[in-house]
Amino acid sequence: MSVTTNPKAMRAWTYTSASQGLEKSVKLVEDASPPFLQELPADGILVKVRYSALNPADHKIPELGLLGRVIVSVPATPGLDFAGVVVRIGDAIPDDAFLVGDQVFGRIAPGQHGTLGEYVCARMDGCAVLPKGVSLEDASCIGTAGQTAYQCIVPNVKEGDKVFINGGSGGTGTFGIQIAKAVGCFVTVSCSAKNADLCRSLGADEIVDYTTEDVSQVLKSKGPVYKLVVDNVGSSPRDLFKAADHFLLPDGKFVQIGAGLSFGDITATASRMMLPTYLGGGKSQYQWVVTENHHEHLEKLGNWMKEGKIKVIIDEVFEYAEVPKAVEFLKKGHLKGKIVVRGCT
Ligand SMILES: NC(=O)c1ccc[n+]([C@@H]2O[C@H](COP(=O)([O-])OP(=O)(O)OC[C@H]3O[C@@H](n4cnc5c(N)ncnc54)[C@H](OP(=O)(O)O)[C@@H]3O)[C@@H](O)[C@H]2O)c1
Repeated sequence: MSVTTNPKAMRAWTYTSASQGLEKSVKLVEDASPPFLQELPADGILVKVRYSALNPADHKIPELGLLGRVIVSVPATPGLDFAGVVVRIGDAIPDDAFLVGDQVFGRIAPGQHGTLGEYVCARMDGCAVLPKGVSLEDASCIGTAGQTAYQCIVPNVKEGDKVFINGGSGGTGTFGIQIAKAVGCFVTVSCSAKNADLCRSLGADEIVDYTTEDVSQVLKSKGPVYKLVVDNVGSSPRDLFKAADHFLLPDGKFVQIGAGLSFGDITATASRMMLPTYLGGGKSQYQWVVTENHHEHLEKLGNWMKEGKIKVIIDEVFEYAEVPKAVEFLKKGHLKGKIVVRGCT
């Protein structure tokens, strides 16, 4: 495979303001500065991106306006997840960790030089070597959705525990079902009827159709049997945390990653976090999970894929020129698994 060692400029999708929607603002630039133009950080791994999977954060952060600019300075390139080929390695990276030419995958933290550029600078924590037999396209989907689901589930359950996943058919949900099954849990998920077969095929033991059933009531009727709730939706049903008083075990835990951005959604999430029981708040242990990059988690997920314990569900693959279309598709919020953008050649 040909390897570029010292690019001076690169192609990248960039935005400066996304107030009209990222899909309308993002532009393809032919002469963007590569993320390492000054000097590759000692702990940096420069990767030529072959595939980038999209996540809701890719449009949510740019569309936050001023707050988004506090998180990420503009002009910026969106994208967190990548799979590609190592082209340069920082001096502090151990000799046996990565080699130029290695195929790798992972996730970068939100920043100015995202994975919808030709090159990305990853850190050791957010990068792992592609296991044999796993495709770059599939591996590009692990970074955010895979690590998030892993970090919500693995530290909180053991074999035989019951888990409820609110939202089983999207990026985090499709990983979550399979991770919980890999640990040996009994898994209940909510999804719409059209996605029930997909969730079952990934191992879900029970399905609650959120479009026709009252999810909180169905779970309450089971009594206190669940060890863990993973809320990938946040905004629906709004009463899920309070209802969990009736279906979580006394030592059970409620973890949340998803939340809408409307005023009602934000106040509902804040009350889950802060409202004391005597004022009507839920009594279960609550945690808002923020995805972290962990080399070992990426390796574990890659190995589970190699062993066939986890498969990646890809709804659609977009060409590099189709990024605005891919963002539009992402924003509809009805993905089956992940969407992927092929890197520029
Ligand atoms: N805190 C963190 O660090 C972190 C990390 C990753 C993701 N997140 C957040 O977590 C959320 C999920 O992320 P994702 O990547 O999984 O998103 P995604 O792939 O866009 O999720 C879309 C899926 O959600 C399903 N869904 C929508 N409303 C639902 C409901 N009321 N009940 C059940 N399923 C529902 C949709 O099914 P239908 O087509 O049937 O509607 C679709 O399959 C997002 O808000 C994202 O921003 C946060």
